[in-house]
Amino acid sequence: MPVRLSMTVNGKAVAAEVASRTLLVDFLRDQLRLTGTHIGCDTAQCGACTVHIDGRAVKSCNMLAAQADGAKVTTIEGLADSEEKMHPMQSAFRDHHGLQCGYCTPGMIMSALDLVARNPDPDEAQIRDGLEGNLCRCTGYHNIVKAVKAGAAAMKK
Ligand code: FES
Ligand code: FES
Repeated sequence: MPVRLSMTVNGKAVAAEVASRTLLVDFLRDQLRLTGTHIGCDTAQCGACTVHIDGRAVKSCNMLAAQADGAKVTTIEGLADSEEKMHPMQSAFRDHHGLQCGYCTPGMIMSALDLVARNPDPDEAQIRDGLEGNLCRCTGYHNIVKAVKAGAAAMKK
């Protein structure tokens, strides 16, 4: 059964018709071609698909596109001011080697930004706690934590 939905994605109004069972992650990737949001498990365990819905981090494989009707959705593509100027948290991941294969990185960054929005100066334990829903198969957690700390500091400037 198709459903009509409208939402704001990365600041742009989007209207579409989707099958009622369509997951938000599939809508973002397949219909909007926002493939920076990754699918790692499809069962709400890895966090690779994390996006923001109305400012909060959400695993987009764990909700239907129809449930985001009327919401403001932000994906990793919506963070940078321009192609030349990355978001400070993205720059921090690059500068502190917070990624290896990069598969988990968009989800890590979206979860990190949710954490920093609630706690602008998180310590290491708080960062590890805040990212517990995000898994890195390359196991680069040490540098991810460093990157989030640096990104949070850069965002205060
Ligand atoms: S793909 Fe959504 S949590 Fe793994
Ligand atoms: S950098 Fe490879 S999964 Fe995290």
